[in-house]
Amino acid sequence: MLAASRRWRGEGLDIGLVPTMGALHAGHLSLIEHARRENRIVVVSVFVNPIQFGAGEDFARYPRDPDRDADLLRRAGVDAVYQPSVAVMYPPGSSTRVHVGGVGDPLEGAARPGHFEGVATVVSKLFAAVEPDRAYFGQKDAQQVAVVKRLALDLDVPVEIRVGPTVREPDGLALSSRNAYLSAEERVAAACLSSALALAASAYANGERSPEKLRKALCRRLEAEPLARVEYAEVVDPETFRPPGSLAVLAVRIGATRLIDNHDLSKEFPG
Ligand code: PAJ
Repeated sequence: MLAASRRWRGEGLDIGLVPTMGALHAGHLSLIEHARRENRIVVVSVFVNPIQFGAGEDFARYPRDPDRDADLLRRAGVDAVYQPSVAVMYPPGSSTRVHVGGVGDPLEGAARPGHFEGVATVVSKLFAAVEPDRAYFGQKDAQQVAVVKRLALDLDVPVEIRVGPTVREPDGLALSSRNAYLSAEERVAAACLSSALALAASAYANGERSPEKLRKALCRRLEAEPLARVEYAEVVDPETFRPPGSLAVLAVRIGATRLIDNHDLSKEFPG
């Protein structure tokens, strides 16, 4: 991968990287389109990263569909797919982990110990393997974006972090590979995340600024959904991921499936 990247760079071509775990959907494809508009070369990595899954999480059953992914990537016109095996990414003896303190600690960091360390480690390795000029991440995983930005700054990685908007289903549900876990009934219930965000955004638009009241506006809709169990619902600063702020962030279990979503309440909710 690095040899190919350096050859392109030597030819004066700029390189955009879109890291993914596969099971590609329209959210991933929108990041790839974004990368194609801004770079001569687009590299997509497909790697289900074992170290960002906790014990008891869904690593083993995470959706994998390499043939369909390859087909979508071919049709999207990407220049290279980087798809290392676990043994190539983490050969025996590999033991270094990248820990991003501060922004990586609350919310997802607290709910999923070790998760961001796994993300930061693999993203550092992807940056080393591809040496991209720009790397593309989705706002869907807002705290991941903040962690990756911090890591690039702190480790002096000369990459520009670009962020794409959250792609949603017609009822507002953010696209996610994990939506495939939902039963038909749970799929209907899962719309409570986006409708909670939309309700909080309209409260904000009507002048509500009290963090506690905005939080309550979020929770009211979620608690009305019998299949939903709120893991966290907070309104935080988008840089630090601590209150106060205007970024509403949610983690909610619908049945056994854990979903996350977020919205900047100072903006109108789409749709
Ligand atoms: P994955 O969940 O496959 O997501 C890959 C990228 O697609 C991430 O940047 C994510 O934020 C973005 N994405 C997911 N759903 C989206 C949606 N509905 N709209 C827009 N973008 C969306 O996130 C990961 O993989 C991994 O943690 C990774 C960064 C690849 C490191 O292993």
